[in-house]
Amino acid sequence: MKILVTGGLGFIGSHTVVELQDKGFEVVIVDDCSNASEEVLEGISSISGQMPIFEKLNLREKERVQEFFKRHQDIKGIIHFAASKAVGESVEKPLLYYENNLHSLIYLLKWMSEKGGAFIFSSSCTVYGQADEMPITEDAPVKPAESPYGNTKQMGEEILRDTCTVTPELKAIALRYFNPIGAHPSAKIGELPIGVPQNLVPFITQTGIGLRPELSVFGNDYPTRDGTCVRDYIHVVDLARAHVVALERILNTKQQSNYEIFNLGTGKGSTVLEVIDSFQKVSGKELNYKIVDRRPGDITEAYADTTKANRILGWKAQSTLDDAMRSAWDWELKIRRGNS
Ligand code: UD1
Repeated sequence: MKILVTGGLGFIGSHTVVELQDKGFEVVIVDDCSNASEEVLEGISSISGQMPIFEKLNLREKERVQEFFKRHQDIKGIIHFAASKAVGESVEKPLLYYENNLHSLIYLLKWMSEKGGAFIFSSSCTVYGQADEMPITEDAPVKPAESPYGNTKQMGEEILRDTCTVTPELKAIALRYFNPIGAHPSAKIGELPIGVPQNLVPFITQTGIGLRPELSVFGNDYPTRDGTCVRDYIHVVDLARAHVVALERILNTKQQSNYEIFNLGTGKGSTVLEVIDSFQKVSGKELNYKIVDRRPGDITEAYADTTKANRILGWKAQSTLDDAMRSAWDWELKIRRGNS
């Protein structure tokens, strides 16, 4: 069965392609390569033994999207990762973010609602803002977005929900990711941040390997067990598997509703200092870090209640924080030194 993965050369997309191929799906990737390289295809095929079909395509180009679908009438499902995702850049260039993230979604949904099929949408725990209660369930209220990026995720969910309401042939699931980290255990694919990483784990591994002099820990005066912020770090391979399970749910079972939402996390929160400790343990390296002021816009804590995904999808994250940090470190060693 043919599945379209948009943004399939990216961090989460590439891991999901491998898991789909492992389950026998035929994958077509479209990616505009704005934040990913065609070389990722080699990594994917050397893990799975199969080269996915690939088309370089910008999903904002409506005519080209229509033309693409005319050539791939047999696509039965879409997993939609392609989106701009830098929070800071979205504040500076809001129109770019609204155009990139919403036009692409609308053009894909236009096609899928005519043909019918499965649609999986990459959403984020950012929609909860600072939730009032931990762990966060799917029923927690959606808070006003802190950035245009966050707003595109909220609006994307609304566009999807409203489209599903009037289109019974369209069956969709929005997946709200907590903090994806790590890399494939083969160290053949992983995260490739361009420039200075904004996220914690790539910054740690780049500091560990000597690319950055030190990590800044943004604040140690939060009301948490050691004063640093708490997040739910999930191994990217666990996250990738959840996409396959969600797709299979749509394709193989009759759901009560044609639009569902699931949190994807481990259910366990870790502080920034605990992540550093884990890195030091698995790498055997001491990490150079200093405590600095809080980063504006950071929330104190966010970790998932995963009961709904466990019960309904039958999915549970398997990897520990140490497993994820080890894979992130192996990947960093591989890309910088060519040895894994
Ligand atoms: C960020 C995004 C979020 C996005 C998610 C994807 C912001 C405000 N939020 O979440 O919208 O969905 O990435 O992974 O950017 N930290 C440091 N030093 C660093 C970097 C991070 O101490 O150099 C701390 C942060 O303060 C935070 C934790 O590490 O407590 C995780 O940060 P990060 O990886 O940027 O993720 P989020 O802020 O949770």
